[in-house]
Amino acid sequence: MATNKIIIAIDGFSSCGKSTLAKQLAAKLGYAFIDSGAMYRAITLYFIRNNVSLQDHSQILDALSNIHLSFVFNEKSQQSDIYLNDEDVAHLIREMTVAEKVSEVAAIREVRSFAVAQQKRMGKKKGIVMDGRDIGTVVFPDAELKIFMTADPEVRVKRRFQELYVTNPHITLDEVRHNLEMRDYIDSNREESPLRRAEDAVLLDNSTLTREEQLAKVLDWVKERAQTV
Ligand code: DC
Repeated sequence: MATNKIIIAIDGFSSCGKSTLAKQLAAKLGYAFIDSGAMYRAITLYFIRNNVSLQDHSQILDALSNIHLSFVFNEKSQQSDIYLNDEDVAHLIREMTVAEKVSEVAAIREVRSFAVAQQKRMGKKKGIVMDGRDIGTVVFPDAELKIFMTADPEVRVKRRFQELYVTNPHITLDEVRHNLEMRDYIDSNREESPLRRAEDAVLLDNSTLTREEQLAKVLDWVKERAQTV
C-alpha cells in the first residue's frame, strides 16, 4: 500500500456514511481518523449544559475558553472517542437534543475558528482522515485527496434512523427526516464556510455501493495520490 502519508479530506451532507468510510480508511492505512462533526457536537453539548446564549458573543468566547476537546483511542470500538474537558461524551453527543442545535452552533464564526485551528494542528504530520463539511475547502485546502460524498436522501434517512433507534426506540422516520433536512439546509446556506464541494474533490455517491466496494474504490484513489506527493 501507499508509503507516503497523505491527508484525506471527506466532506458531504449528514448521514452519507462519511465517518464509516473515514474509519475504514484509517484502519486500513494506519492513519488517524478525526470526526470533526464530533467537535461541533461536543461544543454544542457544553453550550446546552451551560445555557450559553447563541446571540451573545462574549458569552460564546468565554465558554470556548473553558472548553478542552481531545480524542482518545478506544480499543473496543477501534476509533477515537471525543472527550469534553476530560469527560467521555462520545454517546451523549449523538442525542437528538444535540442534533437539533448543532447546526446553529456550527454556524457561529467564533466556534468555527476555535474548531478549525485545532483541526489544522491535527493534520501537521499528515497520515490523517478527517470528515466534515469544510475539510477540503477550509481546514485542509491542500489535502492530497478530497472526497465529496452524496447518497440518496431516503437512504440517508434510513441509515440515521437505524443508528438512533438503537438508543431511542421512540424515534420516528419523520423526526429523523426533518432533522436531516434542517441540518442540510443550515449547513449549506450559512455564511461561514458553507458546505460545498471543493473544485478538486472527487464525487462519491454511495447510495448503492456496499462498504467493501466503496473502500476498494477509495483505496485506488489513495494509491494514486500517495504516489504523486
Ligand atoms: O457530521 P455530523 O452530523 O456529526 O455533524 C454535526 C454538525 O456539525 C452538522 O450539522 C454540521 C456541523 N459540521 C460543520 O459545520 N463542519 C464540520 N467540519 C463538521 C460538522
